[in-house]
Order: sequence, then structure tokens, then C-alpha cells
Amino acid sequence: MNFANCKLQTANCQLQPLSQKPLIFAPMTEFAHDTVVPDKTSSLSKKQQVAEMFDGIAFRYDFLNRFLSAGIDVKWRKKALRQLLSLQPKHILDVATGTADMAIMATAILQPEKITGIDISDGMLDVGRKKVEKLGLQKTIELLNGDSETINFDNNSFDAVTVAFGVRNFQHLEKGLSEIFRVLKPGGKLVVLEFSRPKMVGAKAMYNLYMKIVAPNMGKLFSKNRSAYEYLDQSIKKFPEGKDFTNILDNLGYQHTYSKPLSLGICSIYCGEK
Ligand SMILES: C[S@@+](CC[C@H](N)C(=O)[O-])C[C@H]1O[C@@H](n2cnc3c(N)ncnc32)[C@H](O)[C@@H]1O
Repeated sequence: MNFANCKLQTANCQLQPLSQKPLIFAPMTEFAHDTVVPDKTSSLSKKQQVAEMFDGIAFRYDFLNRFLSAGIDVKWRKKALRQLLSLQPKHILDVATGTADMAIMATAILQPEKITGIDISDGMLDVGRKKVEKLGLQKTIELLNGDSETINFDNNSFDAVTVAFGVRNFQHLEKGLSEIFRVLKPGGKLVVLEFSRPKMVGAKAMYNLYMKIVAPNMGKLFSKNRSAYEYLDQSIKKFPEGKDFTNILDNLGYQHTYSKPLSLGICSIYCGEK
């Protein structure tokens, strides 16, 4: 029995039997952002709404990513993957892989034997599979429908796990992060890349203008979906960032955790080891 997670005493801590897995305490703290959903009027769960939203914008997702970030997201992704250079991971799990940008980039930067990408949106995975095929990377990258909160792999399966712009969309942040901890091998490393909010006054004003006006209107113009980019703003606002995020990792048993703000704090890298 693994009591590592019992450091965290939360309201709904419960003993959970998992097939092929040891009994673990599943921490169930609810964070403000867990309740931020794409459509407040919908009766669907956050997970179902998020999957539908990404299915709907998948065809324009890569273009809008590059366009709205002016290509900076590529630099952020490279920097995040470089956190794994010294580990030289052979087997990588890319959680919330979307259209497989991180997985594809990881083949070039880290040259692993195998990368498995999981995501709950088949629309995003379809776009990803086409990219993987076009690049002839089918032997290295496998894309599967899978949920971060019930990862369909045995304990201690992966040398490294990456999540780019995914954790903010989890329905239960802690559940996802504790599942990732379970499937990491001892000594394995998690790298998270996620939006955060800039702290400098000038940068903050520009950022707010961008998130409130530019992103939703561009989203509407190119993907016919304004609300997806309004959800982006709302979910970033409520998301635990910096020390708040590394504290969550610490409480779940991750070791040597750290965070690195990028581009005036618009984005952050978070890491932790098992
Ligand atoms: C903003 S996209 C990021 C995609 C990709 N990682 C990237 O860097 O471009 C967020 C992705 O998270 C996925 N997602 C959200 N919740 C998830 C969950 N519980 N399990 C797996 N994927 C999830 C969505 O379907 C979506 O594809």
C-alpha cells in the first residue's frame, strides 16, 4: 500500500482500489479552476465540454496557436522539453497531447524510443495522427484516446511525462497529477508547460487587452468559436501558478520541484520528479 499521498489531508480523501494498481489515497481537493467550464449553461461535465470544444476547433488549432502567440509557443515548448535533456528518457507519455506538437518536437530534441500521446479529444488526435504520418514518425509516436485522470497504463511505466497547456483543462487537477505520478518510473520526471499571468504593470495591461479583445475575436474569426478563447482567459485567471502549483506537486509526492516563468510570466514551466 502506498501512503505517499497521505501527506495531503483534504476534505474528500478516499481509499480507492484500482485494477492492477496498489491501493492509493486519491486526493480530491477542488481548485477554483476545476469549476471553470467552456459553457456555464451546459449540463455536461467539464471533461465532456472540454473534449467537445477541442473537437470543434481542432481544424484551426495549430494555426491559431502559432498566430496568437506569434510563434513564441514553439520556443516555450523547446525550453520545456530541454528540461529532460539530462534524463535522456526512452519512454515518454505526452498527456493532453492534442495535435501532437510536443510529441513531434520531442522526437527531434530528445530522440526517445517511444512517445505515447493521450487526449480526450478525437478531433485533436485525428489532426495529430495526420501530422505524425506525414512526418513518417508512426513507429515512434502512438496517439491514443485517453484521460489524464484514469491513465490506462501500469504503475512505473514512463521515464518522463510532458503536459503542454493541458493541466488547466483537467476536470480534477490533483487527480490528473497523481495519476501521472503513478505511471512515472521512480526517478522519472514530469514537465508541465502552462499559461500564467504576467506580474509587471505594463505587461499586465497589454496581456489583459490581448486576452479580452484580441484572442476571442481572432478565435471567432478563424475558428468560429469565440467562447473557446474566452474560456482560455477565465481558466488562466483561476489557475494556481508559481509556488501554488509546485506546492500541489510537493503534496502529491513529487520531489525536486521547480518553476520557471517565461516571457515576463505569460507562460511557466513546472517540473517535479518521482
Ligand atoms: C490547449 S490543448 C493542448 C494540446 C497540446 N498539448 C499542445 O501543446 O498544443 C489542451 C488539450 O488537453 C486535452 N485534455 C483536456 N482534459 C484532458 C484530460 N482529462 N485528459 C487528456 N486530455 C485532456 C484537450 O482535449 C486538448 O486537446
